[in-house]
Amino acid sequence: MAQKRILLGVTGGIAAYKSAELVRLLKKSGHAVRVVLTRGAEAFVTPLTFQALSGEPVRTSLLDPEAESGMGHIELAKWADQVVIAPASADFIARLANGLADDLLTTLCCATEAPIAVAPAMNQAMWRNTRTQRNVRLLAEDPQVTLWGPDQGEQACGDTGPGRMLEPQVLADLVNGGGDGVLTGKRVVITAGPTREPIDPVRYITNHSSGKMGYALAAAARAAGARVVLISGPVSLAAPAGVEVRPVTTAEDMLAAAGRAVDEGCDIFIAAAAVADYRPGAVAEQKIKKSADDMTLALVRNPDTLATVAAREDAPYCVGFAAETTEVARYATDKMVRKKLAMIIANDVSQPGIGFNSDNNAVTVFWPGGQRSLGPAAKQVLAADLVQLIAERSSQGRDGAAPATQSNKDQP
Ligand SMILES: Cc1cc2nc3c(=O)[nH]c(=O)nc-3n(C[C@H](O)[C@H](O)[C@H](O)COP(=O)(O)O)c2cc1C
Repeated sequence: MAQKRILLGVTGGIAAYKSAELVRLLKKSGHAVRVVLTRGAEAFVTPLTFQALSGEPVRTSLLDPEAESGMGHIELAKWADQVVIAPASADFIARLANGLADDLLTTLCCATEAPIAVAPAMNQAMWRNTRTQRNVRLLAEDPQVTLWGPDQGEQACGDTGPGRMLEPQVLADLVNGGGDGVLTGKRVVITAGPTREPIDPVRYITNHSSGKMGYALAAAARAAGARVVLISGPVSLAAPAGVEVRPVTTAEDMLAAAGRAVDEGCDIFIAAAAVADYRPGAVAEQKIKKSADDMTLALVRNPDTLATVAAREDAPYCVGFAAETTEVARYATDKMVRKKLAMIIANDVSQPGIGFNSDNNAVTVFWPGGQRSLGPAAKQVLAADLVQLIAERSSQGRDGAAPATQSNKDQP
C-alpha cells in the first residue's frame, strides 16, 4: 500500500472526537498525517490530542504570523497527497462548495491540487436541508472533491437518519484504496450513458441519458473496494479515479463489450445505461439528402444487453434500472421478473428535477420479496446508498433467499 501525506481537516461537529481515532489508524497504516482544526473544531477537541497522535504540530489559524512567515498555508497545500475533511460540518461544506477562503482550512482547499475527500457529519435535518443538499450537489460536480458518506443511523442528538460520519475505520480504508470495503475482492461491471444508433455518417438516434448515475455508481463501487469496469456510451464525464472505462457507441457495441467484461469475471452487473431499444435497419453510407416532404425510417430491435447477461448460466448478480413515467412499481417489477433480474432500481422520470440529465435522483429499489425507497438526493450520495444495498443483497445470493437482515426490515 502506498504511503501518503494526508492533510486531515477537522471541523466543528460532535463527531470531531472520532477523528483522533482516524489519525491513529492512518498513522498505523504508515501515512504521514498533519492536522488542521477549524475554529469550530477547537470548541470540541484540542490541538494537543492531534499533535500527540500525529507527531506533527497542529495548525489552527490562517493569520498566525509565526507559521505564515514562510507562507505556511501554501506549503501545507503543496505538501498533501490527499486532503481529508472529517468531520465536515454543514458550515464547512457550504464554504467549500462556494469557494470561500476565509480560514486556514478553506484557504488550503483553494490552494491545493490534491484530491479532497469530504466526510459529512451532521444532524439528519441539517443534512436533508435544501441549502445543504444544494451545496452537496455543487461538491458532487467538483472533479477535485469526493464525498465519503454520510452514513445513516442513530445520531448524537437522539434523531435517526442520514448524516452520521462514516466510522474512522471505514474512512481509513477509503484512504487506503478500498481496504475492507463492502465490495472488496468483487468485480463489478457497470454500463452507463446513452447509445448512439447511426442513421447516416452525420446523424444518429439517441436519448437524454447523461451517464451521471452510472458514473456515480462506478465511483461508489470503487470506493467500496470493488474492481470496476465501466462500459460507457458517449458522455462528457471524466473517468472516476481507479475505474477502467471502456467506451462504446451503439447498443451492439455495448452488448459485445458487456459480454467480454462478464467473460473476464463479474460478480455484480449493473445496467445503468439507457440503451436504444431500436436502431435504423440500414445505415446509409452517404449523407441522406433532403428531398421528399416526408421520410420514413425503418427501425429494428436492438439486442438487450441486460437480459442477455442475466440469461447466462454463469450470470452475475444482475441489477437493472427502469425509467418509467406511469405505474412505476408495476412496470419495474414486471421487468425484473421478465428479465430474470436480482434487483431493479426504478425511477419516475416524469417528476421534475430528478432522473435523466439531472444531478438528483429518487428511486425505489425492488428485489424478490422486498423494496426500499432512497432519495431524493444527489446522484453521488444516492450511489453510495445503492452500492451498500447491492452489496448487502448480493451477499445473500441471486434470489436473496437468506436469513432476515437489516434490509429485510424494509419489506412491506
Ligand atoms: C454542541 C454542538 C454540536 C454541533 N454539531 C454539529 C455537527 O455535528 N455538524 C455540523 O455540521 N454542525 C454542528 N454544529 C454547528 C457547528 O459547530 C457550527 O456550524 C460551526 O460554525 C462550524 O464551524 P466550522 O465550519 O468552522 O467548523 C454543532 C454545534 C454545537 C454547539
